[in-house]
Amino acid sequence: MNSGKFVLKKISLSDDEFNKLRSLVFKVSGISLADTKKELVISRFSRRVKGLKLNSFSEYYNLLVSPSGFTEVQNFINSITTNKTDFFRESHHFDFIISNFIPEILAKGKKPVRIWSAACSTGEEPYTIAMVMHRHLVEPYSIPVKIFASDIDTNALKTASAGVYDSQTISPIPEHYLKRYFLRGKDNNKGLFKIKNEIREMVTFKKLNFIAEEYPITNTFDIIFCRNVIIYFNAETKKLVISKILRFLNEGGYLMMGHSETLFNIIDGLVYLKNTIYQKHFLDKFGRN
Ligand SMILES: C[S@@+](CC[C@H](N)C(=O)[O-])C[C@H]1O[C@@H](n2cnc3c(N)ncnc32)[C@H](O)[C@@H]1O
Repeated sequence: MNSGKFVLKKISLSDDEFNKLRSLVFKVSGISLADTKKELVISRFSRRVKGLKLNSFSEYYNLLVSPSGFTEVQNFINSITTNKTDFFRESHHFDFIISNFIPEILAKGKKPVRIWSAACSTGEEPYTIAMVMHRHLVEPYSIPVKIFASDIDTNALKTASAGVYDSQTISPIPEHYLKRYFLRGKDNNKGLFKIKNEIREMVTFKKLNFIAEEYPITNTFDIIFCRNVIIYFNAETKKLVISKILRFLNEGGYLMMGHSETLFNIIDGLVYLKNTIYQKHFLDKFGRN
């Protein structure tokens, strides 16, 4: 009996195809895929192969490396990234901002404050930073805060830029933040929540690939969030990316890493404070760490 469901034929992936595709993933994004990730590659790229009406992963690979496949490379990257994120994820970082960073800024009288959410995914991280900074610094002390948020994944950036989330996604947001900083959708938009303009305007979104030669950044930052992304890189790429990122961190600025990411033995010039929070050394009068 026909159940009415279409079961799409699974496309097989040979070891040779897997190796070619994962080398290309590494080349264009720095993401390292272990030998155990064959199923992941099948599930992430099958939709592209079918959508493009191709017959095999070899055809897909050949398209990607051909001159006419240039535009497909971004879809290829968007398909392999893992965008898991949450509002108020690893909230000890926001507690640190309130109890340590903001009092320091008030003492220094520094303005504007600049923060980089590197690997911002669908926007939950930069909007959490913006809401916390608005509540504790912008509104009470009129100190402007500018947040630069970047990611390699253009689909994630589109979602981030729109700033509209469903009820499941907004569930970690404390009630007073939700009330103050979100608009509730009505009629056709019932069940959706849109970030208010005063928060949206604090954030600039841009595509940035960590392994690119040049970063499209002209400022330096007081805090950089680089959370839950270097886990996808090998040791060499981790070191390269962190040292590049650190060039954009002010002396005495803070680097927030994800819960399973330690930088011990990776990089000089950083002091480990606590809870995956690092601080960049102050330079001495000769410009040394
Ligand atoms: C698991 S999410 C982490 C999101 C957020 N930082 C958090 O901790 O909740 C990892 C993000 O890193 C991004 N990413 C992966 N490789 C990247 C690269 N080479 N350059 C920039 N972003 C990258 C992915 O697109 C994805 O959105």
